[in-house]
Amino acid sequence: MDDFLDLIRNDHHQFDQGKLEDHYEDQPFGLISSWLREALERNVHEPNAISVSTIGVDGFPETRVVYIKELLEEGIVFYTNYNSHKGKAIAHNNKVHVLIYWPELERQIRVSGLVEKVPEAMSDTYFASRPYGSKIGAWASDQSEKLESRKALEQKVEDFSLKFPTDVPRPPHWGGYLVRPLKVEFWQGRPSRLHDRIVYELNENTWKLFRINP
Ligand SMILES: Cc1cc2nc3c(=O)[nH]c(=O)nc-3n(C[C@H](O)[C@H](O)[C@H](O)COP(=O)(O)O)c2cc1C
Repeated sequence: MDDFLDLIRNDHHQFDQGKLEDHYEDQPFGLISSWLREALERNVHEPNAISVSTIGVDGFPETRVVYIKELLEEGIVFYTNYNSHKGKAIAHNNKVHVLIYWPELERQIRVSGLVEKVPEAMSDTYFASRPYGSKIGAWASDQSEKLESRKALEQKVEDFSLKFPTDVPRPPHWGGYLVRPLKVEFWQGRPSRLHDRIVYELNENTWKLFRINP
């Protein structure tokens, strides 16, 4: 038996970083934004990394990490290639699930929602703020498509660098998605695995707030 596995079997970790009250604002945005702000202030590792799950055309769920780039009252925005696997999945089924986990804060947020493309002007603004290399990369990478070799990718980077030596326009297939939440669960680790979980659920345009068992 491998000794190192004893480390993951050890159930003695006590969660004790915080708690959730019974009463919060009547919509989930306030708590999402204050938790994200706290994650940033506490310098947690990758505070804006989230896992986004989609349902593929083949019916299989698929999850990947992306970065939150905007947090709006309407929802969470991330940027990607619209022709990627996730882009194709979303075009087929706009129901997604988002998971945010901040281990240092012993907090998890889960969001079920419907996703849509953000307005083009918003994608333009964010794309323009990116470093030159990332902009060229967005043109060079046919994200999620088969790639002949690393060399082939580097060649495309070179080609697009020659085509756009200074100003790089946003590729039409690259932009933001807004996840509009329908249900949001906040999880705060508590001692003895008696964790706090509260859920906001959208019901006929009104958010209902309730607590669920750990
Ligand atoms: C920390 C981290 C952050 C990432 N951020 C993004 C992102 O903001 N946008 C993006 O398209 N991919 C991002 N990726 C890469 C994705 O996880 C994924 O590989 C890529 O989007 C292709 O996914 P797909 O083939 O399912 O469409 C990130 C990966 C990691 C590990």
